[in-house]
Amino acid sequence: MPRELDEVIPDLSLEQKAGLASGADFWSTKPVPGIRRITMNDGPHGLRVVADIGISGAKPATCFPPAVGLGASWNPALQREVGEAIGREARALGVDVVLGPGINIKRSPLCGRNFEYVSEDPLVAGAFGQALVEGIQSQGVGASVKHFAANNQETDRMHVSVEVDERTLREIYLPAFERVVKNAHPATVMCSYNRINGVYASQNEWLLTRVLRDEWGFDGVVVSDWGAVVDRVEALKAGLDLKMPTATGDDRVLAAAQSGELPEFVLDRVASRLEMLAQRADASRLGPIDIDFDAQHEIALRAALEGPVLLKNENAALPLPETGSTRIAVVGEFARTPRYQGSGSSQVPSTRVDTALDALTGLIGDRVRFAPGFTFDGDADADAELSAEARRLAADSDWTVLFLGLPDSYESEGFDRETISLPDNQLALLETVAAVTRRVVVVLSNGGLVETESWEFRARAILEGWLLGQAGGQALAQLLLGRANPSGKLTESIPVKLEETSAYTNFPGCEGQVVYGERIYVGYRYYDTRGLPVSYPFGHGLSYTEFEYSGLTVTASEGGASVAFTVTNVGDVAGAEVAQVYRGDRHSAIDRPLHELVAFRKVFLEPGESQQLTIDLDSRAFAYWSIARHDWIVDEGLFTIAVGASSRDLRLHGEVRLAAQGPAPRLTVFSPIADWIADPVGSQVLQGAIAQLPDAHAFQLDPTTNEGRMFAAIPLGHLLTMVPSAPSGAAEQLVAAYEQLSRAAVSPPGE
Ligand code: BGC
Repeated sequence: MPRELDEVIPDLSLEQKAGLASGADFWSTKPVPGIRRITMNDGPHGLRVVADIGISGAKPATCFPPAVGLGASWNPALQREVGEAIGREARALGVDVVLGPGINIKRSPLCGRNFEYVSEDPLVAGAFGQALVEGIQSQGVGASVKHFAANNQETDRMHVSVEVDERTLREIYLPAFERVVKNAHPATVMCSYNRINGVYASQNEWLLTRVLRDEWGFDGVVVSDWGAVVDRVEALKAGLDLKMPTATGDDRVLAAAQSGELPEFVLDRVASRLEMLAQRADASRLGPIDIDFDAQHEIALRAALEGPVLLKNENAALPLPETGSTRIAVVGEFARTPRYQGSGSSQVPSTRVDTALDALTGLIGDRVRFAPGFTFDGDADADAELSAEARRLAADSDWTVLFLGLPDSYESEGFDRETISLPDNQLALLETVAAVTRRVVVVLSNGGLVETESWEFRARAILEGWLLGQAGGQALAQLLLGRANPSGKLTESIPVKLEETSAYTNFPGCEGQVVYGERIYVGYRYYDTRGLPVSYPFGHGLSYTEFEYSGLTVTASEGGASVAFTVTNVGDVAGAEVAQVYRGDRHSAIDRPLHELVAFRKVFLEPGESQQLTIDLDSRAFAYWSIARHDWIVDEGLFTIAVGASSRDLRLHGEVRLAAQGPAPRLTVFSPIADWIADPVGSQVLQGAIAQLPDAHAFQLDPTTNEGRMFAAIPLGHLLTMVPSAPSGAAEQLVAAYEQLSRAAVSPPGE
């Protein structure tokens, strides 16, 4: 039975308490009497249990699909199951905290670590994060949701200052974390390396204490990203608990505690949170566990089957015929040497790896013939020979399946990409092959998205396979042959070209700063609002069957709305559809994206089967963050609701009228005359003042005239400086009168 914390802390010396706030080594904390050692290991899609860094010497673990692949399944139940599987392996390996999931927003496709992140949309990222955390923690293992916050690039990642306004943070970069914290109660949150508006995330009191704990109610441990703490004492004061890795700087913490610069209660708080973390794991753990790696591999396979996105399928080119004498050329080194995860801290020492080539051969035998087609390192001489061989094979086959993608050296934690193109040698190979056959299918393996506009006309079908973990090869083979039906959807828009991405001119910044100048207009929020063409829109993904949408009803409910509609599988194979609900707000007082995803559901339907879905939307689905009012606001009026298969394939349209919610705007000396006139109390106060200032009548306030419109735009305070009879302080007096009258208007009689 663990002792109560109050009993533990008095026994600890100041040195011990100071020591608790940092690691003992790379992956664990220091044990002290009453608080045991806690171990933490990467990472988001499988475990990497090593002594220091790298992967050598690591114990084998199952490599599940990285976030890019698993996220594209849009299936939280599946993601939860993967979380449970990771949690089981963590238990078996004695890991207390799994360092993941990573749920940062894909602001630019150039971020080298996008393969570890889920989406350009906070709802999709948050739903994924919640499911993974719930799954991991169901096994009595803690999760560490990361990297908090606004860590959307690798360039200068340890120092760059993200210059971003609060509305953009609240609407785009924080909601996924908020959802995970409020709904899944992660044991730990990992703060990021970068600065936010000049303050390191690890020292950011607004972020780590006011938002995370005071507003969202987080009660776990805030751990630093590895090496993210610059000033140990400032970080502790701001709300960081544990600096990782290693104990550097403990002497500085101790001296600050001894001198009183760092209040002792801050260290008591750290001890208390670490104790709670250890207790939580001990209490919910179910004892020792044996891992059945075959069963874990099966889960990795099921997860991999739902990630690939069928971007295009001209004349039902896919699935490939499973029987008969069709000869299939499998071309591309990726078919034999799969790229199934990214490099860096998330790399998992897989228990085994399926290749698409073996899997296809296993399924349809010697109708499959292989040519590597290109080298990963772009060796020109070797590529010329391989390309000629592939051309001969393609010419002599009925179908050619080309496995293209990004070699390992193209993307990783630690650096960003410079282009979203496929390597030149692969594009040249595609051209060569397409010159001898029209029957070309392209299968892609890439963590960050690649542009398709310049080459897609050469392919009859494109299956975007992302990175799919150790069972990805088998999954791709089954999808190509129609043994499974693709059901992945894009969690990020595929732009026509890099130059059209909204962060293009601001990414990755310079001289220690990156300005989030595109604000909330990230991904489809930008393309759809601007009406720009994209190659493939957010939410897009085809199936071997077809779905119909019908019967939309939208009804206002407490503060939000209830949306109901029916999805029917009208084709002749079983399949799954991700139905998406988008909300539009054209009447808002401030600029908003054309529409935003507010809900989604994945439904599995047999041929001819229908399912009615009812989705409740709360007021947040309609709200924006007001910088002036520091709160979520719903403006009174009509909102549009659109339901469909992608942000650009909306099949059903409805509307709902909602009342205003959130604090009302307050008039100030800076409020324009128009706002004063529009407000009943403000107008009364203003008209009263005008009546007493005879020369104020010289200012024409009739809004039907140009002059009136011009004056309407002038702030009250500024206008009064031009009225000769207005005494100094007149504007402030009007504001005071307005405040007093407004209070009287809302107070019940007798107060
Ligand atoms: C990464 C984290 C990771 C940590 C420990 C850092 O470089 O940013 O995601 O969990 O290393 O490996």
